[in-house]
Amino acid sequence: MAAMLEGKIGIVTGAGQGIGRESALVMAREGARLVVSDINLAMVEETAHLISQAGGTALPLKVDVARGEDLQALVELAVSHFGRLDCAFNNAGISGEGALLADFSEEGYDLLMAVNLKAVWRAMKLEIKQMLKQGGGGAIVNTSSVGGLVGKEHLSVYCATKHAVLGLTKSAALEYGAQGVRVNAVCPGVVRTPMVEAVISGTGTSLDDWSKLQPIGRFGTPSEIGEAVAWLCSDRASLVHGHALVADGGLTCA
Ligand SMILES: NC(=O)c1ccc[n+]([C@@H]2O[C@H](COP(=O)([O-])OP(=O)(O)OC[C@H]3O[C@@H](n4cnc5c(N)ncnc54)[C@H](O)[C@@H]3O)[C@@H](O)[C@H]2O)c1
Repeated sequence: MAAMLEGKIGIVTGAGQGIGRESALVMAREGARLVVSDINLAMVEETAHLISQAGGTALPLKVDVARGEDLQALVELAVSHFGRLDCAFNNAGISGEGALLADFSEEGYDLLMAVNLKAVWRAMKLEIKQMLKQGGGGAIVNTSSVGGLVGKEHLSVYCATKHAVLGLTKSAALEYGAQGVRVNAVCPGVVRTPMVEAVISGTGTSLDDWSKLQPIGRFGTPSEIGEAVAWLCSDRASLVHGHALVADGGLTCA
């Protein structure tokens, strides 16, 4: 059977570690040629190196998703180097302050909105315009969260951004589906990454307790999210559109 993303050109944000890095590795394994980006250049260079060691193709680029010009450079590099853009994984995100809503700072609120929400909107604008221009459509996957479906103590503003990402995803699906651009989101549960380890260390609870939050009794792995993302980007998911794919080991069943 052919690899799922054979011949596709893709971009990934926040690909320096965690879900973004492992998803890029899965996408490349499935045949996509990629521009991998992150605010941390050294880390995303390492991701590109891992991809090329595994036989794939990826160019690294420093991109702060909060800067519109960086996102423009990301789309432009994919098009200038590879000729087109078929799939985009808008993944970069931060968890922000672990504070109760009434104690949350204005600066913390603005930063979360800029990185987790405005950047996704800006990236989608650029990606959709490129996909429409080249014809033949494309697939966009945005990283939401189970925090886009339910609330969580100490993460109110984070949850607000992730709910809003689903609003952008579903509305764009309505607007661009007829022109061949599929737009979906992935909602990870508790995936063991540097972000989650930092969040847990701020709560005073143990990694072991958190690992049991999901009914499967363990953390998710970043590559398990990558499998879902690669599939959503592929033509095998051709009927899946405007969907929030929950990959949470059953966390939101209760
Ligand atoms: N880990 C989880 O359990 C979990 C659950 C639900 C949703 N998510 C979401 O998944 C995404 C990835 O999370 P992760 O756990 O892999 O986090 P992580 O912190 O391990 O990795 C995030 C990556 O994004 C990069 N980044 C941060 N700010 C950036 C910016 N302004 N511009 C470009 N890159 C930036 C970081 O350098 C890092 O490489 C985030 O959107 C997060 O909200 C994670």
